[in-house]
Amino acid sequence: NWTPASFVQETVAQLKQQIGDAHVIMALSGGVDSTVAATLISKAIGSRLHGIFVNNGVLRKNEFEKVLETYKQLDLNVKGVDASKTFYDALAGKTDPEAKRKVIGKLFIDVFQEESQKLNYIRFLGQGTIYPDVIESISVHGPSVTIKSHHNVGGLPDTMHLSLIEPLRFLFKDEVRKVGLELGIPSDMINRHPFPGPGLAIRILGEVTEEKAKLLQDADDVYVKALKSHDLYNKVWQAGAILLPVKSVGVMGDERTYEYTVALRAVTSVDGMTADWAHLPYEFLAHVSNEIINNVRGINRVVYDISSKPPATIEWE
Ligand code: XMP
Repeated sequence: NWTPASFVQETVAQLKQQIGDAHVIMALSGGVDSTVAATLISKAIGSRLHGIFVNNGVLRKNEFEKVLETYKQLDLNVKGVDASKTFYDALAGKTDPEAKRKVIGKLFIDVFQEESQKLNYIRFLGQGTIYPDVIESISVHGPSVTIKSHHNVGGLPDTMHLSLIEPLRFLFKDEVRKVGLELGIPSDMINRHPFPGPGLAIRILGEVTEEKAKLLQDADDVYVKALKSHDLYNKVWQAGAILLPVKSVGVMGDERTYEYTVALRAVTSVDGMTADWAHLPYEFLAHVSNEIINNVRGINRVVYDISSKPPATIEWE
């Protein structure tokens, strides 16, 4: 019978055999799946695992530093590559959601390939693919209509001639979490909400700029911290703030303001395929609205998204 401990033991033994004395390269995202997969591989081959974690400029506030610190604690050999400026440059003038996804996906591959060329003796590519990704990549990219091109599955070109190592390929999310806890990965990492590959870029409606990214990072940070401190974070599937390309009039002291609007989104869901808007307490929403408007210069209005999926989607882009 399946237990996290037996899975870890068997998988590590299997990985040792499969990889031998070769090296593995892997893109890490800061998410649960890639962290758990990397930790398993690292248990098998130590620093012959070469992780790459890219700052694309649209991560959450301080995420790049925080996640690298966690990897260090887990003794993972991960290189942080700060490519923010390159991403902002490439995103300039792009307003269409799919065009933004494409730019980010392509640039990510470029950065990853550049790093992998420095390690040209590597033969294996590690990936945090889990069972639902395998299923979804068949249905999303199959005959049915593609609503949003998720680029986190099979996103790397096979021109790299690397053999895949996917230790979580047959696990469901709850099993991945149990394995992660068994491996000693901190519980706040394990219980993270899903976060899209294109990050805040698809929560900044329209054109992404560095300035807007900073604004949204600050508002999102206030929101997420408040969810945690009010014991609501683990009661929702996913939550985040969205920066609307709309300015509205407000009043601050005796000054007229004309600034951006932020929408807050929180949903409950089991698999992300359908979702209900979360009925967060009014008092909580009032608190977050005040905190954002009083602390984030450049935002003077906060609204709450009360649409469910379908017909809306979780992300706004
Ligand atoms: P939607 O907006 O389609 O989102 O209801 C469903 C889930 O997928 C995530 N999502 C993405 N994840 N790349 C990703 O890696 C993407 O382009 C992308 N778009 C949406 C979304 O955050 C939610 O968890």
